[in-house]
Amino acid sequence: MTHPIVFHLCPVDETDLPALLEVYRGCEDFLALGPHPQASPEMVRADLELSRSSGSQFHGIRDESGRLIGVADWRAGGFEGQADTADIELLMIARPYRRQGLGHAIVAEIEKRIRQEGRAAQIASGVQVNNRAAMRFWLRCGFRSAGPPQKQADGTTSIPLLKDLHGSN
Ligand SMILES: CC(C)(COP(=O)(O)OP(=O)(O)OC[C@H]1O[C@@H](n2cnc3c(N)ncnc32)[C@H](O)[C@@H]1OP(=O)(O)O)[C@@H](O)C(=O)NCCC(=O)NCCS
Repeated sequence: MTHPIVFHLCPVDETDLPALLEVYRGCEDFLALGPHPQASPEMVRADLELSRSSGSQFHGIRDESGRLIGVADWRAGGFEGQADTADIELLMIARPYRRQGLGHAIVAEIEKRIRQEGRAAQIASGVQVNNRAAMRFWLRCGFRSAGPPQKQADGTTSIPLLKDLHGSN
């Protein structure tokens, strides 16, 4: 799938906090589905810290001009102690940039990078039961439901997702 929006996936950290906060604010419709509807610096810092402590790679999604328009956090293996399971922990795109194929292109790029690292046989993710649009999105990206909804520590309920890497491109 060719996408008209040029994007770059670049590591981000606390020095990018103001721009990250703008992205999170542009995703408050999504945050409203969970326990903390309003974006805050503490929320961004907590996500960066969680990513660091779990060995994930927290990236910003930048457009051609370098503007931060989304975030993606993934790990190339080691999900829930399984060496051969990668996972996409977070994918958020600010509202004006959605529904143009960008999310699909980003998942394809993350998948490519995970394949290049060569550790994973599958990619796990998860979607909140009340986020029907995202469920359709993940199915479109080749993920399947991998079990019943599970109650999470933050009070949300999410469906585990999996995509097998063997035999698919
Ligand atoms: C979910 C998200 C990452 C999808 O990214 P996107 O750039 O909007 O998605 P794409 O344009 O690449 O869509 C790919 C396919 O997913 C499906 N899809 C995406 N958004 C959808 C929506 N709102 N309603 C229905 N289907 C949707 C469609 O099938 C679409 O293909 P099509 O347009 O050819 O029919 C993005 O909308 C987002 O950041 N949402 C807020 C945060 C969020 O929900 N993140 C996921 C948490 S699990």
